[in-house]
Amino acid sequence: MKIYLSQDSAAKALGAEEVAAAIRTEAEARGQEITLVRTGSRGMIWLEPLVEIEREGIRIGYGPMTADGVSGLFDGSAPDLGPVEDIPFFAAQTRLTFARVGRIDPLDLAAYEAEGGLSGLRRALEMTPEAIVEEVKASGLRGRGGAGFPTGIKWDTVRQAEGARKYIVCNADEGDSGTFADRMLIEGDPMALIEGMVIAGLAVGATKGFVYLRSEYPDAIAVLRAAIARAEGAGILGDVMGSGRQFDLEVRVGAGAYVCGEETSLLNSIEGKRAVVRAKPPLPAIEGLFGRPTVVNNVLSLATIPVIFEKGAGHYAGFGLGRSLGTMPIQIAGNVRFGGLFETAFGMPLGRLVEEIAGGTASGRPVKAVQVGGPLGAYLTPGQFDTPFGYEEFDREGALIGHAGIVVFDESADMRAMARFAMEFCAVESCGKCTPCRIGAVRGVEVIDRIGAGDASAVPILRDLCEVMRDGSLCALGGFTPYPVLSALDHFPEEFGQQREAAE
Ligand code: NAI
Ligand code: SF4
Repeated sequence: MKIYLSQDSAAKALGAEEVAAAIRTEAEARGQEITLVRTGSRGMIWLEPLVEIEREGIRIGYGPMTADGVSGLFDGSAPDLGPVEDIPFFAAQTRLTFARVGRIDPLDLAAYEAEGGLSGLRRALEMTPEAIVEEVKASGLRGRGGAGFPTGIKWDTVRQAEGARKYIVCNADEGDSGTFADRMLIEGDPMALIEGMVIAGLAVGATKGFVYLRSEYPDAIAVLRAAIARAEGAGILGDVMGSGRQFDLEVRVGAGAYVCGEETSLLNSIEGKRAVVRAKPPLPAIEGLFGRPTVVNNVLSLATIPVIFEKGAGHYAGFGLGRSLGTMPIQIAGNVRFGGLFETAFGMPLGRLVEEIAGGTASGRPVKAVQVGGPLGAYLTPGQFDTPFGYEEFDREGALIGHAGIVVFDESADMRAMARFAMEFCAVESCGKCTPCRIGAVRGVEVIDRIGAGDASAVPILRDLCEVMRDGSLCALGGFTPYPVLSALDHFPEEFGQQREAAE
């Protein structure tokens, strides 16, 4: 009997290790031969720990499984969910970046290759750096960390920059609230990230890469380190596939500050300096790590590169809408019935994601607001549910998709408290380099408290302050904090002591 069980940290937190131990004990007691394959997560968190048993090539799901329920897997009495890939939440997805996550043992190179791995790298090895960059441009891939800058253009800048050494840096300091796609990808398919970074190295002429991973992700750190060792042993890293072209990879662990996810602050941290933000220009693409031309890309951007080369840029660009091409691994969290990782082509309306895919609120109460894009993202209301999931489409609504985390709130949410939290978060996490953020966020908390105490005359001051922070901050932390604050104020003026009519 072949059994699959996730060892993703979300599954572990929900009891996957106890279930794994129970499966082994039960099999031994029954004298039954089993193969237990530990995988990444399928992303359906409400079903974890999710056990899958392969029958005639189809994986049947059982979950959420408990240690006590394991005997039922062996005597056939455990209720099943049917084929896992037919579960509506999974069947509605287009999995390109996450195609292997949940299907394979993340460290099994043979399984990785059997499911398409390394074919992208083999193809890239036959191409010139210019042709590799052109392929990435043609795919339409944009930075999945949040800013959405075209990846191919960034690579081209580094390719053309003069430098005795160049670097590829992967930003895995996933700090946005409600996001977990980087972690899930690294825990479930680290080889895709490694392969993507090697291809990036070939494209720009870099021979060294760093993955900057946050210390709060110990499982991802362990899996990635083990994967790098495997890749070195298999000749994927080092002398890349015996091609004579070198690429080495190192993991650097961040100590846990939100601002370390800002690319220049991250570079300072790798260099062993205090993680303060650097002014741009110069762009990291020109003067990055140790002053050398550097590609800084998010985990999802780099892990999507192999499938673009495996299936072709045209295939990837065939998904999506407008200038948002391909797929986005959306992370659904907060007050929802079905939370998890949902990869889909850009363009799905926000309302469908919240009401249908996520199944509405877990509390059963109506949705009041949805925060998209982490703690710096705007709140959207059900009145905006027609908005298609895309960079420009959200921009037109005064919002951003960021790293594609969606956090849902029901009608009990206190929006003034949420606005205050945004300012407080910024005050706590500010690197302190620029005044609008360092001082502005502290004043922001005070002004919102004045409004809360009944002083409605402080509302124009809050708007002024947001304008100064937005226009005067050096990086996105101070510059984007006004998004959640102003969207809460604009959509819910009565919670700030304002007349709705007067505000609209
Ligand atoms: P940005 O717009 O300044 O830059 C985007 C990227 O493009 C950077 O890597 C920049 O160096 C590069 N770039 C810009 N012009 C270029 C050119 N001509 N040639 C080559 N490269 C060029 O945005 P930033 O400050 O890097 O990121 C802000 C975003 O980060 C926000 O949209 C937010 O959503 C996201 N974010 C994500 C978090 C997460 O946990 N993933 C946490 C916090 C913010
Ligand atoms: Fe630092 Fe805030 Fe200024 Fe960014 S906006 S550089 S985090 S003080």
